[in-house]
Formats: sequence, structure tokens, C-alpha cells
Amino acid sequence: MSASRQHDGVDGAVLMQRIEALAAISESAHGLTRRYLTPEHRRANDLVAGWMREAGMSAHEDAVGNVVGRYEAERAGAPALMIGSHLDTVTMAGRYDGMLGVVAGLAVVETLSRERTRLPFAVEVIGFADEEGVRFGSTFLGSRAVAGTFEAALLEREDGDGVSMADALREFGLDPARVGEAARRPADVLAYLEVHIEQGPVLEAAGLPVGTVTAIAGASRLALTIHGVAGHAGTVPMAMRRDALAAASECVLAAESAARDGDRVVATVGRLVVSPGALNVIPGEVTFTLDVRAATDAAREQAVAHLEETFAAIAARRGVELEVRRVHDAPNVDCAPRLMDCIDRAIEAQGLRALRLPSGAGHDGSAMAAIADIGMLFVRCEGGISHNPAEAASAEDAAFATRVLLHAVRNFDPASPGAASDPESRERR
Ligand code: HGY
Ligand code: MN
Ligand code: MN
Repeated sequence: MSASRQHDGVDGAVLMQRIEALAAISESAHGLTRRYLTPEHRRANDLVAGWMREAGMSAHEDAVGNVVGRYEAERAGAPALMIGSHLDTVTMAGRYDGMLGVVAGLAVVETLSRERTRLPFAVEVIGFADEEGVRFGSTFLGSRAVAGTFEAALLEREDGDGVSMADALREFGLDPARVGEAARRPADVLAYLEVHIEQGPVLEAAGLPVGTVTAIAGASRLALTIHGVAGHAGTVPMAMRRDALAAASECVLAAESAARDGDRVVATVGRLVVSPGALNVIPGEVTFTLDVRAATDAAREQAVAHLEETFAAIAARRGVELEVRRVHDAPNVDCAPRLMDCIDRAIEAQGLRALRLPSGAGHDGSAMAAIADIGMLFVRCEGGISHNPAEAASAEDAAFATRVLLHAVRNFDPASPGAASDPESRERR
């Protein structure tokens, strides 16, 4: 194979330029924050759609705000292999989480288009609109809409400013009543592949740039409120206080210690708001979030139930009231053996061993698994740091991963065993 073909024209510098261009589109002057249905989401979609068209794809925005590019097959209208990741970010995010998967998919199509290669299937690249769920508390909104599992009740969710998802969709130029039109038929989606930074330390420790993902961790997200009694910091005796923050703090430490036991249970309180928040007022109310994950769904459910009981006991003992709302649940999802094999072979074709590893982070593939087999390729990131401006991946590793993805696409067999022989038969879960 000629040298250029070995490198398949994949240029790490271009990948990084695009990562930087997207990283410059932020709601905040301090770091990268880009939430669902914001003007920054619109700018990112428009930028990516332009790259898609330059790469020889048709590009459109679907009914829920995903940006979708399609590189046609030999036969127009053929089912598609979907490649993608998300374009939204957490608050003060890293620049690779999500975006790397979109620019890698773009680069794969650019090479195919430059070669004038047409495959027996279409290749679609999708930039999902909301994987992190930062604005409305849920997650996988874009991929769930594509998978046909978007629940209409989500449209009533409000953001921190009291704007409902339905109003935000209207403001973005979309019609909440038509979100269902983003759903794809299983017959039209042959499989879903995603390149994503590992967001953990395993690949770096193994000295490998990439690895094959075996499964994606599920997650349970809860929104909790503790109602105490606000009071004068100087006059209320300690024994008579119903301090909402002291109670919440005990809950936070209980969550941390529950996660110290086995079964890879992890629990995180990512956001906590104290009111009224004056330094000489005993906190009357605290709202906080809880994110729980584990190696199995059963272990996660058990951990959540245990924590709800523990929190209730803390509240009773302290004479405060506890409100608990489950705002999101996603099951653990396995990657398809046929796609793991395809990715392994693609890694080995680049002269490396294929290490397999699970994902502790959630990804859009969890939602896409409802209509298609899923596969993921992880990319080494420095120190395993993510959800942090210090998140970093190298241009070499990004280019290497893109070449692995390109090999997997070139060698993807739509009819390989395990593919839903009659995709229509795949029940929407
Ligand atoms: O929370 C997660 O695991 C992902 O980053 N949304
Ligand atoms: Mn993330
Ligand atoms: Mn991500």
C-alpha cells in the first residue's frame, strides 16, 4: 500500500485545527461551555455543517438539533453506517470530549471523498446536540431522539433560568411538536461507531494510543432538595438548628463512603446550591445533584436505594425535609462483538495490539444501542483527565485513531453475523 494510502491523507494538524475552532465557541469567556440549544450550539452546528459539505456530504440539522452529514453509498438511499459523537460540553469543559469523535468521522469521509471511494453503504457523521445534559439535567437527548426513545415529557424540563426545553427549541428555530421526526428507522442504520477520548488512565498506563471499548457504564442521576429552617447565625443555639447545609454535607460524605465499597460504585455530587447564601444566615435550603454508576445495573440500583435510605435517615435525625427526584437513568450497554472485532482488526492493521476496556463514562452509544449495534474506539488522553480544561490528546493519537476508524469503515461488513438480519425486527427498547 502506498505511503499516502497508509496515512490515508489523515492529517492530525487539521483535526486539531477543527478541535480548536470548536473550542473557541463558548458561552463563557472563562473556558469552554456550550450547552444545548444556545447560540453557541447554533454556531458549532453551522461550522460543522460547512465542513461536512466541503467533505462532499449533504448536511442538515434534524428536528432535535443534531447536525447530520451524509456521504452517499454506491446506491443512493442505501442504509448508513453512522459515526459520531456530541458537540455539547459540560461547564468549563475539555475540548476533546465529544468534538474529537465528530472531527474524526469528518476526516474519514474526507479521505473517502478525495479518493472518490463509494461504499455499499452510506456513511453518516452526526454531531449530537446534547449528550452531557448540563442545561436540562437529562442526557443523550440528541441520540435518544435519533433512536426514537425521546420522551415528550422532557420538553417540560426547565433550565436554571426557568426556560423550558420546548421554548428553547422554538427559540433555536425548531418545533417541539416535531422532535419525533429525528427518529431513524433501524433498517436505515447499519451500526453506530464512535471515537472518544478515554477520560481515564488505562491507555496511557498501557502505552497505547487507542483501545476497543467493551461496554458503556449506565448512570442514575438524582436531584435532591433539603428544606431546613433559615435562622440568625448568632442567636439560634446549635441544638435547635435545622441547618440544611449541615444535613446536605452529611449526605455528600455518605455518598462518598457508599462508593468506597466494591462493585466499582462511584457517586458524585457535582452541583450544590445553598440558600439564602448569606454568611450570617443558617442555610434554610440546599439543592444538590447525585450521579451514581457501577459495574452492573443491579449494583447501581442497590447503591441508589441505599443512599436514598441513608439520606432519609439523616434528614429525619436532623429534623429537615428531604425531596428526591430521579432525573435520569441509563442502563449499562455492551458494545457489539462484531464491531469490537472490526475495531480490533483495524487497530492490529496499524501494527498495534488491541486492548479492550470498559467505559466508566456515558456516551451516545448507550442511546443508539436501541436501534443499532454500537462500537467505540477510545483515544488516550493525558493523565486520564477530562471534564476539565486540562483535558488533552495529541495530534498523533487523534490521527492514529482516525486511521483506525477509516480502516474499520473500509472493512465494515454490513451483512456480518450479528447484524440485525432483519433490522426492522429490532425492537425499540
Ligand atoms: O457523564 C458522562 O459520563 C458523560 O460525560 N456524559
Ligand atoms: Mn462528557
Ligand atoms: Mn463525551
